[in-house]
Amino acid sequence: MPQEQIGVDYSELHRLDSPANRLIRESIWAPEDDIGQQSFTTLAYMDEVIHRLGITGDTHLLDVGSGTGGPAAYIAARTGCRITGVEINEVGVEVAASLVAKAGVADRVDFHRGDALSMPFADGGFDMALSLNVMNVFEDKVALFREVRRVLRPGGRWMFLSGTFDLDEGDADIRRRLARGYLIPQFYDSLDGYKAKLQKAGFRVDEVLEYISDFRTQVGRWGAAYRTHRDAIAVEQGEENTASHIDYFDAYLSMIDAGRASNHLILSTAPA
Ligand SMILES: C[S@@+](CC[C@H](N)C(=O)[O-])C[C@H]1O[C@@H](n2cnc3c(N)ncnc32)[C@H](O)[C@@H]1O
Repeated sequence: MPQEQIGVDYSELHRLDSPANRLIRESIWAPEDDIGQQSFTTLAYMDEVIHRLGITGDTHLLDVGSGTGGPAAYIAARTGCRITGVEINEVGVEVAASLVAKAGVADRVDFHRGDALSMPFADGGFDMALSLNVMNVFEDKVALFREVRRVLRPGGRWMFLSGTFDLDEGDADIRRRLARGYLIPQFYDSLDGYKAKLQKAGFRVDEVLEYISDFRTQVGRWGAAYRTHRDAIAVEQGEENTASHIDYFDAYLSMIDAGRASNHLILSTAPA
C-alpha cells in the first residue's frame, strides 16, 4: 500500500462554490439532493443512519471526518440532536461552519479541526458516533476504532458507511489505480477485515447492511462529472489529479461490477 503522500488533500474539493465544484455538483446531484456532502452519501443513506442509530433530540453525536458539514447539518435539522464534527482539513471546517449557520443549526452543531486518530475530546462524552465514507483514509483502523471507543460513553453506538474491497496480492494494478483515491491515500479493507478490527478494538458488531446499486450510481456520476468537466476541474485541481481521479472512478466501477467492491453500513456497540 502507498506510504508516501500522493495526490492532494481536500482543500480544493471542499471549496463548494468554486466554478469547477459547482459544475461537478450540478452534474451529480439534483438541487434538493445536494446538501453539501463530500462523498457518495445520499439522503437515503442519511435517513437510514438516523433510523438505525435511533438518533433523537437528546443525542450528542460525533461525526468522524465531517467534511464540509452537509451530513451533520442534515441530521441535526431532521432530528434536533447535537452534533460535534472532527475534520482534519481546515477548509472543510470553515465551509462546514458557514453551512450549518445557513441551515439554522449552528447552535447545536460545531466542528473541530483535528485528527480523528487523536481527537480533542474528553473520554466518554458522546452517545453515538458515525462516519460517512471516511474509513479508507485510516491505515491503522484498530487505532481509529479505539479512539472512537474512548470518546463514546459505555454502551455507545458506532456506525460507519464505507466502501469495502476484496483485494489480494495479484491486484497490484488495481491497487495502484485506487490508491490515490478520493484525493488522499487510501487503505482499503474488506468487510471481514472491518468486523475483525472492530472486535479487536472492543466493539460488538451488531448489524451489517449492504448498499450497492445506489452506490454504483453515485460512483458512476462522480466519474462522469470529472470526465465531462475535465478541463475546468484541471484548472483548479491540476491535470494529473484530474486524470488520476477519472481512472480511480473507472477502477472503482470495474471492481463493483466484478462483485469485488461494495458499500457497507456497519453498526457496532462499545462495551457497557
Ligand atoms: C470523503 S470525505 C467525507 C466527508 C463527509 N463525511 C461527507 O460524507 O460529506 C472524507 C473526509 O475525511 C477527512 N479526513 C481525512 N483524514 C482525516 C483524519 N485523519 N481525521 C479527520 N478527518 C479526516 C477529509 O479531510 C475529508 O473531509
